[in-house]
Amino acid sequence: MKSEPMILDGRKVAGDIQAEIKTEVENLKQQGFKVPHLAAILVGDDGASQTYVKNKIKACKNVGFEYSLLQYPESITEAKLLAAVDRINEDEDVDGLIVQLPLPDHISGVKVIEHISSSKDVDGFTNENYGAITSKRPGIMPATPFGIQELLKRYKIQIKGKHCVIVGNSRTVGAPMSSIMSFHENATVTICHIYTEDLASFTRLADILIVATGKPGLIKADMIKEGAVVVDVGISRIEADNERGYVLKGDVEFEEVKPKASYITPVPGGVGPMTIASLLLNTLKASRQRHQS
Ligand code: GUN
Repeated sequence: MKSEPMILDGRKVAGDIQAEIKTEVENLKQQGFKVPHLAAILVGDDGASQTYVKNKIKACKNVGFEYSLLQYPESITEAKLLAAVDRINEDEDVDGLIVQLPLPDHISGVKVIEHISSSKDVDGFTNENYGAITSKRPGIMPATPFGIQELLKRYKIQIKGKHCVIVGNSRTVGAPMSSIMSFHENATVTICHIYTEDLASFTRLADILIVATGKPGLIKADMIKEGAVVVDVGISRIEADNERGYVLKGDVEFEEVKPKASYITPVPGGVGPMTIASLLLNTLKASRQRHQS
């Protein structure tokens, strides 16, 4: 009889990481160093983005970081938003800055991200930090891929030599994830996306399958190899007849895929908390580099 797959419990691992950071913050304080400070910019009133930012602020409070939340209306101009980024870039007290995505259509997300000082870019989204992955220069790692790498490591999952199939080619997750798995972990990497023809023929070859498309339920049981490690980055709100009016669903059909997987992340409680843990680790690193070097 096949044994149950292991759940890759991102909530638990992220909790462990937050506890480690909290201890580190206490040590910094005792040594007379400044407490790390994260600033978050939120534009508009999208419910999901508000929840994500609220969770990031809650995590800052939990570990003892200072934080600032700057909220702007949907109608803010690109010039005003760039000026807000400039002010934070120049603010000596702030160590890390995130601009929650997506931004309204009239604002270029790429332009805003590139405006963030790379030393404060704790999402790891700027070209300079992206380039640091492949050149192995010290930089700030992109938060979600870094969180996934850490989650696999803490569960002692072998990556070296394994075939890692990534579904999703976004600048923020799929593309940097492929670089980390190839350059840093020596996996064999295949990158697919929602336009890949006969997607299942690729996903069935995966020892490690990482899915980040934002298409709920895209990956079904017949697309998985027996014993694969399955990491689901997707988190979509699906309308439902409950108190909140929605349920959260990943890109993987969890219940049908679970029996075939050796390890699998749940949604919620898998990758999401690991992204926040990485953001905190990146902010701690950015703060150290600014104040202790
Ligand atoms: N929107 C969805 N995920 C993220 C993330 O990790 N960082 C930012 N800034 N925006 C997001």
